[in-house]
Amino acid sequence: MDSELIRRLAHVVGDDGLVLDEAAQAPYVEDWLRKWRGRTPVVVRPRNTTEVAAVMRLCRQNGTPVVPQGGNTGMSGGAAPDDSGAQVILSLNRMKRIREVDAVNNTITVDAGVLLADVQDAARDAGRHFPLSLGAEGSCTIGGNLATNAGGTAVLRYGNTRDLALGLEVVLPDGRVWSGLRGLRKDNTGYDLRGLFIGSEGTLGIITGAVLKLYPRPLGRATAWVGAPSPDAVVSLLTRLQARCGERLTAFEMMSAYCVTLVSRHVSGAACPLAGAHAYHALIELSDAVPEGLAELLEPALAGPLEEGLIADAAIATNESQAKAMWRLREGISQAQVRAGKAVKHDIALPISRLAAFIKEADAAVEREFPGLPIVNFGHVGDGNLHYNVLLPLDVPHEEYVQLTAGLNRCVHDLVVQRGGSISAEHGVGQLRRDELRRYKSTVEMDLMLMIKRALDPDQLMNPGKLL
Ligand code: FAD
Ligand code: MLT
Ligand code: ZN
Repeated sequence: MDSELIRRLAHVVGDDGLVLDEAAQAPYVEDWLRKWRGRTPVVVRPRNTTEVAAVMRLCRQNGTPVVPQGGNTGMSGGAAPDDSGAQVILSLNRMKRIREVDAVNNTITVDAGVLLADVQDAARDAGRHFPLSLGAEGSCTIGGNLATNAGGTAVLRYGNTRDLALGLEVVLPDGRVWSGLRGLRKDNTGYDLRGLFIGSEGTLGIITGAVLKLYPRPLGRATAWVGAPSPDAVVSLLTRLQARCGERLTAFEMMSAYCVTLVSRHVSGAACPLAGAHAYHALIELSDAVPEGLAELLEPALAGPLEEGLIADAAIATNESQAKAMWRLREGISQAQVRAGKAVKHDIALPISRLAAFIKEADAAVEREFPGLPIVNFGHVGDGNLHYNVLLPLDVPHEEYVQLTAGLNRCVHDLVVQRGGSISAEHGVGQLRRDELRRYKSTVEMDLMLMIKRALDPDQLMNPGKLL
């Protein structure tokens, strides 16, 4: 990259706003899964929206592609530069201002670089609740959550990130700023520009700020771990609990026995609260701003299915540390997978009523076509979202990994799409599923997305090679 551009970038963000040293660039050029590693001439770390806009203008004038990056915890390779060494990483990790908390309007306005955990804390300090919750919340940013329309474990009750955002501030590829930071629940003034940028994975512009919804603080929770004989039983339990507990059911996670074994083996301190072997497990949580009666609701709601044999066993947390231990067991799956092998990951969504049949068919198909490969099946069943992963040995040769990934993707994604499902539920497309997307999206949908991309980023500078 020419030194003139570097000099101009330094003039905008200051010398300490540039990362030029290769060693210092390491955490930026490789993703959390260590699956994608690229190169960059410089990581640029602007302090505010004005600086982001100035950086974008300079890069555009120079024809330099830009890879926006938040916490770099994405699972689809969306924030990794390619190995050309020509792509600038624009990191939002210096933009950490909480701009405003309006407890009466139930909104919080933040910079895109604010960590999800810090937004949760700011909401709690204001006597409110920001419900987005996922295993990476200590290091992912609101900008990345919006750009990937992140899901997590509270979608059942509160929806995806898209449902939690009221307004956005975005720097466009031409350097102009769209200031849409309105905290309005009703604003019918033209196309849904906010919806366009949420889930765009850095390919249409750089999200620099957001107005997010706040909710009443849940003052109580009742958490349980359940053992069940099959995915059908788990889905039936979900239906029963939704009927009985309504909106107080705020999380419902499922995992296979193998997931529990992996976490118990690879995550210290994690142990299953149930004795005996169960083909499937579920983590269930009721929570509410009115804490009374949650335990009294959960206990009989599980007693019926237990007596009928729908579920085989259940443990209700009697204190906060037991509830936390149950969540650590669930959240430990991501880490356990990475330690146990190289996962071929699928982040799929199906109508909840079709999940059990899919699992049965997919298990049979994978066993038939790829005998002996362990399946790590878990996810947010309340949203119809499964992480249906297949684990290969840590030392699997790269060529073999690529070959098996293509075959497994075909096998799993064909089954999903035939059942009206999606091949990317919450992690986004990134570079991981870009070619799969083209295979399954209709021509009209691909044309519409390409028309939008060409209109907003005619020079194709925004996050090249991702999503489209
Ligand atoms: P990055 O990884 O930095 O970037 C992700 C994408 O967004 C890239 O395409 C990037 O270019 C783009 N981007 C980032 N910031 C901006 C911005 N300001 N403007 C425009 N584009 C931007 N995800 C879930 O949905 N649900 C889960 O339950 C979940 N659990 C996880 C558990 C673990 C342990 C880990 C490591 C990850 C998990 N994730 C999960 C994936 C990841 O945390 C989410 O995708 C998260 O939203 C990424 O945020 P980030 O700030 O790290 O984004
Ligand atoms: C999860 O639900 O734990 C995440 O989406 C991460 C993963 O798929 O590993
Ligand atoms: Zn998930």
